[in-house]
Amino acid sequence: MLLESQGISHLRHCSRIWSAFLHAPAPGRILSPIMEVIICNTYEELCRAAAREVADVLNAKPNAVLGLATGSTPLGLYQELARMYKRGELDFSHVTTFNLDEYVGLPITHPQSYYHFMHENFFKHINIPPHNIHIPSGTTTNYRAFCEWYEKRIVEVGGIDLQILGIGSDGHIGFNEPGSSLSSRTRLKTLARPTIEDNARFFDKPQDVPIYAITMGVGTIIEAKQCLLMANGKKKARAIAAAIEGPVTSMITASALQLHPETKAYLDTEAASELQMRDYYDWIQLKKPGAPRV
Ligand code: GLP
Repeated sequence: MLLESQGISHLRHCSRIWSAFLHAPAPGRILSPIMEVIICNTYEELCRAAAREVADVLNAKPNAVLGLATGSTPLGLYQELARMYKRGELDFSHVTTFNLDEYVGLPITHPQSYYHFMHENFFKHINIPPHNIHIPSGTTTNYRAFCEWYEKRIVEVGGIDLQILGIGSDGHIGFNEPGSSLSSRTRLKTLARPTIEDNARFFDKPQDVPIYAITMGVGTIIEAKQCLLMANGKKKARAIAAAIEGPVTSMITASALQLHPETKAYLDTEAASELQMRDYYDWIQLKKPGAPRV
């Protein structure tokens, strides 16, 4: 009986994901390939362009729900959004946020906890009410119950309007390491060795890097109404090419975004350097102003 109900709930998850894949782009949007690829000359340009995307969402819906990422990639975006707030161009007083992930075992005061990262680099610079901020807890005593609660909260607030994403050098989004099910939900995850090695630069000693994390699942992420993938630097070029132009596979969890109806990838030229269709992506952007509206 238990197995049966677990099976039904799994099927329900899968059907939610497939319906997310299949729904049409919002009216008024231009026809574009499933993933729109925007290549910027510099990281600064990329961050300004990504910030304009966030601003468009907030201007259209002041109580929008944002999914947020950590890491060095979105830092410039957060700085630009904070600047826009200070200039009076953005208001976060009705915005709700959900962070993708958190290290297990780090208290919120730890300088490398994602809680600390988000407050230092973004939240303390804008006017978001603290109770609208959601970050997975890396110190809960009941991970299963916490993950279920996190998923429920996302649904209660109407789902994520715009999900910001970076990408790991192994193609992961959130902490959905290679092999993660494309229908996975928020859960505990064991980090892969390359991720631990990548993130060791932020810790005093390599052995200080946590081995476990709590992360939104791929299924959770791709239920967001829009996704915005950001990547810069040569180190991300292979992962980006695999995610955008390779097969959809759990081995590169960012590739699930190919099936999402409204994903934009903002890249700098280095991150875009291994894309085979680069000329076409540039051509699409060039011809965008004249494209028919759907
Ligand atoms: C971690 C985070 C991801 C992030 C990735 C890349 O694994 N969980 O959300 O995208 O790092 O980080 P960076 O932007 O520093 O390269």
